[in-house]
Amino acid sequence: MINKEDKIVITGCGGMLGEAVYSEFKDICKVYASDIDLNEDWLEYLDVSSANAVAEYLENIKPDYIIHLAAKTDMEYCELNSEETYATNRNGVTHVVKYANSANIPVVYISTAGIFDGEQESYREEDKPNPLSVYGRSKYEGELEAKKATKSIVVRAGWMIGGGPKKDKKFVKKIVEQINNGSKQLHVVNDKFGTPCYTYDLAKSLHFLVDNEYYGIYHGACDGKCNRYEVAVAMMIDLGIKDEVEVIEVDSSFVEKDFFAPRPRSEILQNIRLKKIAPHLTRDWEICVKEYLNKFDWLERS
Ligand SMILES: NC(=O)c1ccc[n+]([C@@H]2O[C@H](COP(=O)([O-])OP(=O)(O)OC[C@H]3O[C@@H](n4cnc5c(N)ncnc54)[C@H](OP(=O)(O)O)[C@@H]3O)[C@@H](O)[C@H]2O)c1
Repeated sequence: MINKEDKIVITGCGGMLGEAVYSEFKDICKVYASDIDLNEDWLEYLDVSSANAVAEYLENIKPDYIIHLAAKTDMEYCELNSEETYATNRNGVTHVVKYANSANIPVVYISTAGIFDGEQESYREEDKPNPLSVYGRSKYEGELEAKKATKSIVVRAGWMIGGGPKKDKKFVKKIVEQINNGSKQLHVVNDKFGTPCYTYDLAKSLHFLVDNEYYGIYHGACDGKCNRYEVAVAMMIDLGIKDEVEVIEVDSSFVEKDFFAPRPRSEILQNIRLKKIAPHLTRDWEICVKEYLNKFDWLERS
């Protein structure tokens, strides 16, 4: 059970998920939030790819828990910069696990549905990983490192939604950007399947797992399944612009120039283990998309 005096180090906390994880923990214990992108005054600089910097930082704080979010997450960037990607996404984990084992403290690592090859309809926790991209491979190797922690919690996330207009870098933000740039027609792929993952729910799941010392591998996406086109259609309804903006179904070849990193056909996650211990923690993706769009002001009206 986390106590008020406990210290939690959160790496990569300036990102989409970090925003929610910081809010989840900041009032219940002492949070030490770090990133290489210092976009908040509560962040301090820590590059997890540096073994020395990580060791020095952790020795100095002596945390009771580590939540390791830091990663290169732009799949195209990763494809083009594999050395840097592995230095962060795999070696960063090695560095925090080394300290965690020396201090016998838990490490939480966030993995991805992208460790699977997408040939199955959906994925359970025990299914065999076979990543297709540099990002997917680096995250899977990170998972293998995280499993070396004596107290290891690995949570595989789906298509991340969260962070709001300031921090969201993924699908919701990319769609909103097109609308704000005046697009009245959006071309969205219908041949990539997955499960959105709501950062604010995922942060609650992490809290629950840490608090109750549930170690092991979990899937922590929303409930349900969809394709990208269906998410875009839901967004138009939730934003109240379904009669103004047309969503046109295309296949992946339409966007392959911009999104050239190999992506699995299916990234649908089944949250079997989490549902068994805490059925209340994950909600249907449509509810989460709606809640997310209502939480922030997205549209720049002229
Ligand atoms: N986004 C998704 O769809 C998704 C899906 C499944 C799992 N995940 C995993 O969830 C975790 C959180 O990701 P997110 O969605 O919050 O992505 P994010 O917004 O990109 O956040 C990751 C943060 O880590 C930072 N970072 C990159 N390299 C670093 C380094 N060497 N040292 C310290 N920090 C570094 C990033 O800074 P820069 O922006 O400057 O690189 C960014 O602020 C990651 O482990 C990611 O792999 C994400």
